[in-house]
Amino acid sequence: MSLLLSPTTLGPLTLQNRMAMSPMTRSRALGNVPNALMATYYGQRASAGLIITEGIAPSPNGLGYARIPGLFSAEQVEGWKLSTAAAHAGGAKIIAQLMHTGRIGHALNLPAGARLVAPSAVKAAGQMWTDQSQMQDHPVPDAMSAADLASTIQEFVAASKNAVAAGFDGIELHSANGYLLEQFIRPNTNLRTDGYGGGIEGRARFVLEVVDAVSAAIGKDKVGIRLSPYGAFNDMPAYDAMEADYTYLAEQLGSRGILYVHVLDHSAGGAPPVPDSIKATFRRHLPKNLILAGGYTAERAEADLAADKADVISFGMTFLANPDLPARFKAGASLNTPDFTALYTPDAKGYTDYPTLG
Ligand SMILES: Cc1cc2nc3c(=O)[nH]c(=O)nc-3n(C[C@H](O)[C@H](O)[C@H](O)COP(=O)(O)O)c2cc1C
Repeated sequence: MSLLLSPTTLGPLTLQNRMAMSPMTRSRALGNVPNALMATYYGQRASAGLIITEGIAPSPNGLGYARIPGLFSAEQVEGWKLSTAAAHAGGAKIIAQLMHTGRIGHALNLPAGARLVAPSAVKAAGQMWTDQSQMQDHPVPDAMSAADLASTIQEFVAASKNAVAAGFDGIELHSANGYLLEQFIRPNTNLRTDGYGGGIEGRARFVLEVVDAVSAAIGKDKVGIRLSPYGAFNDMPAYDAMEADYTYLAEQLGSRGILYVHVLDHSAGGAPPVPDSIKATFRRHLPKNLILAGGYTAERAEADLAADKADVISFGMTFLANPDLPARFKAGASLNTPDFTALYTPDAKGYTDYPTLG
């Protein structure tokens, strides 16, 4: 009897199985508007219990990557209705991942009038793809003013309301992988002295204010959040207080009664290992609403569910390459391998052309 393939509930949501499709940026949103091709992609994967979309910018300032979608215009809301309908038609619930890229980006990827903003004016190491000039160094971002903090919270609120209007079952705040919200949490990117920096109470403050503002706007049972303790992606080095800081976040988020917390372990991808103790701390504070992700096979997912380490397990690359992943797990079938040359290319190749069983 497979736990992974059994139905469950997550807050008010009934899920047809305990498999989530991880959020994955695929860069098919030409003009930053979601389209019919994207709806086909999500519809093909609608045998998941939960689909978490690719990162979606809540505002023009959050559009750091080329061809990522937004959720701040009427046209984008209409475009997303195609994907939410396709997911629901296949029985999946679907969550919009709100990803503000913060310092990770480039002016060439931003629309006119948008700015690269971050907690502090600390440039990320590394480069960013632009369609116009290929790879470019990350620029130095503007440190956010008090007015920027307030307007950015309102952008998350407006995008959350737009998500509900577009038919999403909820939103996930992307507070992982080196983007804006994690830039507030981590001490290498947050040098603020205004109550939003310093110790973890200060560095967590902006993130928790966003959680509370979007919860007030759409209901806390529609709000999830993703965190990547020990994640190093996008120039986020390890530091001594990592475990203490994420313990504070686990306590704060657990006490709020939101839909879920989604903890990503990047160690399969080469980041430092995430100690079992931090996952156990999240579980203690989230006994009914924890999603775990990162390098999962069916076997490891079944084992972690059996040990009650999480409620739902999230699959990334395997779902990308196997639209019928639950059926393949059920049949014990072999898996397609991902086409790494087509992760972020603009068309259907390597996107909607992966074969299903039979
Ligand atoms: C092509 C690609 C794009 C991704 N984009 C996002 C993203 O937009 N938001 C996010 O939180 N994680 C993103 N990730 C990370 C995945 O959600 C996932 O956690 C990661 O791939 C590890 O899980 P896996 O081993 O099951 O693939 C991305 C991963 C890949 C491979």
